[in-house]
Amino acid sequence: MDTHARFSLVLSTVMVILQARAVDMVVTRTLDIGYTLSEESANWPTNRAIEITSTMKGLTPEGFWLEANEICMAEHSSTHLDAPSHFSEGAWSVDRIPLNHLMAPGVVMDIQEKAANDSLAELTAEDVMAWLDKHGPLPDRAIVLVRTGWASRYYNKTAYFGTDTKDTSKLVFPGINVGAARIFSGYEEKYGRRVVGVGLDTPSQDNGASTHYPTHVELGAAGIYGLENLADMSELPTTGFKLMVMPMNIKGGSGAPARVIAIIPDPDGDLSSGPPTPPLGRLLYLIPCLTLLVTLLRP
Ligand SMILES: *[C@@H]1O[C@H](CO)[C@@H](O)[C@H](O)[C@H]1NC(C)=O
Ligand SMILES: *[C@@H]1O[C@H](CO)[C@@H](O)[C@H](O)[C@H]1NC(C)=O
Repeated sequence: MDTHARFSLVLSTVMVILQARAVDMVVTRTLDIGYTLSEESANWPTNRAIEITSTMKGLTPEGFWLEANEICMAEHSSTHLDAPSHFSEGAWSVDRIPLNHLMAPGVVMDIQEKAANDSLAELTAEDVMAWLDKHGPLPDRAIVLVRTGWASRYYNKTAYFGTDTKDTSKLVFPGINVGAARIFSGYEEKYGRRVVGVGLDTPSQDNGASTHYPTHVELGAAGIYGLENLADMSELPTTGFKLMVMPMNIKGGSGAPARVIAIIPDPDGDLSSGPPTPPLGRLLYLIPCLTLLVTLLRP
């Protein structure tokens, strides 16, 4: 074999091995960080009730099983996305949000400690700056999740909203301060990286006491969507994971119920939810490559 052929063979073998290693490094596990949608789902007090009606459930005269339901609800029901157009005229509606804003890297900013003391606690500009000092800059197209600990109250309306009435002046839950929202809306101009979405485990981005929703307004005007009524985030790392945000694709929608899936690197290799590369298969793949390399490198 001439030197040229030998060189190409060695190179392609090395690339095959590197690829096999790359497969190893992307082993991930997936985690649903939203709730199922039901009549028990969180629903803003002034919204209509969520109604799910069965229109068919049984054997048809033809002998096959058929079940189907009708759902009547507000766009902002259960775990949902707030489109920028919710609080900003002419901004993106749900169907206009670019897909690469919905599949993007996530980070978690945790304010559980102060929310445990103060049910109206907010993520502030100082909290964001302290986070950036500790964890470094946000990734481009970041979705910033704020963990308040409110998820544990989700199935008790009084504990979650502060009231089980329709009186919005009695709402009590943590949120995101407009100062923090301004860092997110100005992040691209200042640091060249864009924040595309912000989410949290409470009913609203603005805390319960808010009457003018400045955080919604600030983020909406910057084309940043919101995710509300997210579920428990205790298994999420602070950085280094991806999110898939899947809202119903409502034409002109100001918001939509959404499924939100986190994709977390799993160095321990839980292959059941990762790519279909059984360890034995990968080993068998490597054996001929290594044999070839050894043969070729022998003088
Ligand atoms: C919570 O409140 C206690 C008692 O007032 C105080 O000692 C503690 O520093 C507070 N913690 C936070 C994170 O605000
Ligand atoms: C729901 O939360 C409220 C307020 O924290 C509490 O008083 C009530 O006992 C809770 N209800 C249930 C069923 O846990």
